Amino acid sequence: MNPLLFLADRYADGSSRNLIPIPPGMMIVAGGTGSGKTRAAARLVAELAYTPQARAWIVSYKYEDLFAPLLEVPNARVYMGADSLRGLEDFYNNTFKARMEGAKDFSPAWIFLDELALMTMTLSRKESDEVKRMITSILVAGRALCCWAVIGVQRASSELFTGSLGAKDNFSTRILFGNATKIGADVLEFDKSAFLPAKAPGEGHILLNGIEQIPCRVAANLGDKYILAKVMEDVKRVVTR
Ligand SMILES: Nc1ncnc2c1ncn2[C@@H]1O[C@H](COP(=O)(O)OP(=O)(O)OP(=O)(O)O)[C@@H](O)[C@H]1O
Ligand SMILES: [Mg+2]
Repeated sequence: MNPLLFLADRYADGSSRNLIPIPPGMMIVAGGTGSGKTRAAARLVAELAYTPQARAWIVSYKYEDLFAPLLEVPNARVYMGADSLRGLEDFYNNTFKARMEGAKDFSPAWIFLDELALMTMTLSRKESDEVKRMITSILVAGRALCCWAVIGVQRASSELFTGSLGAKDNFSTRILFGNATKIGADVLEFDKSAFLPAKAPGEGHILLNGIEQIPCRVAANLGDKYILAKVMEDVKRVVTR
């Protein structure tokens, strides 16, 4: 599968020189509100349009204007609010579970779960346990089945990362947007002393395989509505094909 090239590196003078090849893997995308997580994730999903047969599911517990037009598109795998659990189950049953049980389809399948912390906090105990069980299974055993998860959270401090899900070593790619606190950076195992200030949404740092930390920015001005419209055309393709 192609590497994902939606991030560029970032230097102290504000310039960028190279795109950062990200191998497919489990990802966590963290950052405070407005730091650019959801738009970066949209750009990432759009990138999958250029990987043959890659499909994505978008699950956002928080209502998201950016994805709202896709709710009108027939058969688009986009789920928001009360539909979120159904979206996760759909991904889990049709890709991960089916493949565990012998289905021979190994086309790349991605789930983007935005605001996961909000989702587990708001669901009933039973549903929330169900969500954690599915996500943990995907994080632990998804790689060999070509099932990938991208998880968006404002802060990674909760049990999602270190607690009962305990799957933190499975996140081969960690992206932290904005100027994180020391604690926020520590949880994800970033070295904050080597951070460059993030001056705009979509700027932050990436940690590859827990070792290589690179200042980065989303390689597109997603504040521009024409660029964003192009990105969303590719997103549409990836959630409907
Ligand atoms: N790559 C980018 N380039 C330029 N502007 C951006 C970029 N990413 C985000 N923005 C701007 O920042 C705003 C917030 O982005 P986004 O919704 O992705 O943030 P978020 O981290 O998901 O916030 P929240 O936690 O509230 O969901 C966007 O509406 C857009 O104007
Ligand atoms: Mg968001």
